[in-house]
Amino acid sequence: MEDQQVSTMEKTEFLYEGKAKKIYRTPDPGLYLVEYKDDATAFDGLKKGTIAGKGVVNNLVSAHLFQLLERHGVPTHFVELVSDREMVVRAVRIIALEIVVRNITAGSLAKRLGLEEGLVLDQPVVETYYKSDELHDPLINNDHIRLLNLAAPEEVEAMRAAALVVNEVLKEYLAGRGIDLVDFKLEFGRTLDDGRLVLADEISPDTCRLWDRDTKKKLDKDRFRRDLGGVEEAYAEIMRRLIR
Ligand code: TMP
Ligand code: ASP
Repeated sequence: MEDQQVSTMEKTEFLYEGKAKKIYRTPDPGLYLVEYKDDATAFDGLKKGTIAGKGVVNNLVSAHLFQLLERHGVPTHFVELVSDREMVVRAVRIIALEIVVRNITAGSLAKRLGLEEGLVLDQPVVETYYKSDELHDPLINNDHIRLLNLAAPEEVEAMRAAALVVNEVLKEYLAGRGIDLVDFKLEFGRTLDDGRLVLADEISPDTCRLWDRDTKKKLDKDRFRRDLGGVEEAYAEIMRRLIR
């Protein structure tokens, strides 16, 4: 896949490197540039690898889904695509919480509650995790969020409500493309400009469990986490079904 320049927004100063993305300042203090890498990690960075083309897929898929969500009234940090691996976003301070929504049992929910994978839930389950690699992103409740002063109770409620809207929009959209939305993780931030709460980070096969509706084949990062093979092909398949 060729990296194609579609805008002229420049990177100025390098700001931060995460496990899958790099963040740069731009000439506008209210905007950051995000560069998506092919680096992949699992188990809080213990397992490291590369997924060829992942940065392109995650950038383009995230842009596509953020735009879809904006059209459904969910405010996001997304501003514009710059290239196949880069997007401009509103500068935010990320809230150290991961909001997970689940429609089908899998992963840590199946393990924690002793359930088999693949059970369809009557209602979505929403969970909050404390974003801390050192502590291995522990599951936390509203009292813990208050104790750590991570977000105000109204913000937690707003994030939970937004996450449920995101779930409805994405579930229906993906169903139309033959994909079951098993679960996903969201992160929110407060804009540096005016402190508005917006959906941030990414929405991609790194942060969602996506199963083929008919075969139940995993089309997401679990192929990397569990050494299932066909990782690049799964990411390419998601991009093909969603965008091209
Ligand atoms: P879990 O079942 O391992 O708790 O994962 C729930 C969802 O969150 C799944 O869609 C994958 C996503 N996720 C992340 O985006 N980042 C992470 O670090 C982890 C552990 C999960
Ligand atoms: N965020 C995880 C890590 O710390 C990766 C994952 O399981 O998605 O490496």
